[in-house]
Order: sequence, then C-alpha cells, then structure tokens
Amino acid sequence: MIAPAPALQISKAELKLLQALVYQECGMYFDERRTHFLEDRLQRRLKECRLDSIYTYYRLLISDQGKAELSRLVEDLTVNETSFFRNQAQLDLFHKYVLEDLLKTKPGKREYSLRIWSAGCSTGQEPYTIGMLVADALAYYELRHAPAGHLLMPKPLVPPPWKVEILASDISYSVLRAGQDATYNESQMQSVDYNYRLRYFDKGGDKYSIKKAVKDLVHFDFHNLKTEFLPQRNDVIFCRNVMIYFDEAEQKRLVEKFYRCLNREGYLFVGHAESLFGLTDKFRMIHVNNGTAYQRIEANP
Ligand SMILES: C[S@@+](CC[C@H](N)C(=O)[O-])C[C@H]1O[C@@H](n2cnc3c(N)ncnc32)[C@H](O)[C@@H]1O
Repeated sequence: MIAPAPALQISKAELKLLQALVYQECGMYFDERRTHFLEDRLQRRLKECRLDSIYTYYRLLISDQGKAELSRLVEDLTVNETSFFRNQAQLDLFHKYVLEDLLKTKPGKREYSLRIWSAGCSTGQEPYTIGMLVADALAYYELRHAPAGHLLMPKPLVPPPWKVEILASDISYSVLRAGQDATYNESQMQSVDYNYRLRYFDKGGDKYSIKKAVKDLVHFDFHNLKTEFLPQRNDVIFCRNVMIYFDEAEQKRLVEKFYRCLNREGYLFVGHAESLFGLTDKFRMIHVNNGTAYQRIEANP
C-alpha cells in the first residue's frame, strides 16, 4: 500500500500572506482561532492543484491565470450552514412588524413594490423563507383590503398591483446553483411545518421542491459583499450569519454600504450572534419578543 503524501508544512509567514489575500478578496478574516481551518483548506487546494509550495500557490492566486483558483479557494473557505425559518423570533418580527409597516405605508406613496435582499443566502432556505412569509402577509393584506366580492380566484401569490422581488446573493457559485435548484431533502426540511410544506412545496420521491410561484419571486445572483457595487433600493436587507466571519473594520464598511443600499427607513436584519452595536449610529434598534431588527435613521425625516 502506498502511504499518503505527508501534509506540507505551512509557515506562519505563509499563512499570514494567504490570510491577507483572502481578506482583501472577500472580507473573511481568519484569526488565530480559525487559522487551522484556513490551513486545512489550503492543504486541500495544494493537493488538487498538484503544487508543493505555498509560495508557488500564492503566485498563482495573484496572477491573471489564477482568478478561477482564487474563487475556488474562497468558495472552499465559506461556511454555508443555513436552514428554513432560522431564528423564528426575528422572522416573526419581520412578518408582523416590518411587512405590516411596509404594506401599510407604501400604498400611501402609491408604491406597490417590495424589494428584499438576502445577502449571503447560501443554499436558498433564507430567501425562500422570506418568499413564503411575504406571500402570507400579502394574502392577509388582500383579505382585509379587497372590496367585497372582489377577491381573485384562484388567489395569485402576489395580488396586483403588488410586485415582489427577492434578490438572493452569495460569493459561492455552488450554493447559488443549489438555491436555483430549490430541492431539499427531509433533513433540510426539519424546520418546515406541514402547513408550509402543503402550501409552498411539491413532493417528488423523498425530496421537496419549492413551488414555481415562490421560486419565481427569488432571483439568485453572485455578489461579493467586499465590493462597492451592491444592489440598491432595497426595502429590507437580510445579512445573517455572514458578518461574523469579518473583522470589525470590514463589518463597519459593510454596514455603511447596507445603509446606502436601503431605501429611506429601510430595515436590516443581522444574525442572532451579530449586532450593529459599536459599528454605526445610523440605525435604530427594534426589539420585539426576542427578535431584533435595525431601521435606517433619516437625517431629514
Ligand atoms: C453561514 S451562511 C448564512 C446563510 C443564511 N444567511 C443564514 O443565516 O442561514 C454564510 C454565507 O455567506 C456567504 N459569504 C461569505 N462571505 C461572503 C462575501 N464576501 N460576499 C457574499 N457572500 C459571502 C457564504 O458563502 C455563505 O453562504
């Protein structure tokens, strides 16, 4: 039997070089607690590229021919853990407070569009959860506001004149493909109750697929949150469990960009273990029944 090749020794200086490159590329910061993860992924990439020196690998990454490999490395370094209906208290706040507010105030401005961005969407459970909650909120809105005898049958998911756009973005192409595929196995469906399964999923074999009407609300696209050119004019941004991998300087820059990407008085949701405390004073915190959101403060209300 041939013994596996011993792992290459990576020096502290080499790790620092790669750590800086990754940070510059995507904002992910590998401090001492996470360097072993970076080291492990580097070993894998070196093996796959059949290279035996970190320095040669680094030279490849910074060259024009190395762009695809740099994307591949970044992709391997992402953590894609997610689930449907993650952080129920926060989603209740979104459903009962934020959507209520938008559906109440927008018609007064003759606006009938909702634009929501799931930034760092992973395999799609977050944007599809948002889609299902928006559909529920609109159905209830219609029930209350349609003149007697004017309820459309069959009920459209998005009753006119409303328009809904949910943008789902990530830096990893493989998770974007999974999101577009919109098919989930039983273990990924654990947090979806039967009521939602019945209304918003089709079952084929042992898999569940998101129904076309909900799927059509969500548009998947590549966006690197490190860059300046990010989707504008959002009513709500969800960026949950992403900033946790960035350092404070990068978090501050990102929150500043989110401020600009939101409409006036727009809302921002961050992860359970994340907060805007110490990062900005341009948002006010809304806290209801253990759910937290942030709303843009306007200089000229
Ligand atoms: C832990 S998942 C969170 C998924 C979902 N938001 C949730 O809370 O369930 C983090 C996602 O952020 C993405 N990500 C990390 N850095 C990014 C960046 N610079 N730009 C865009 N997406 C990024 C990762 O690829 C990953 O899919």
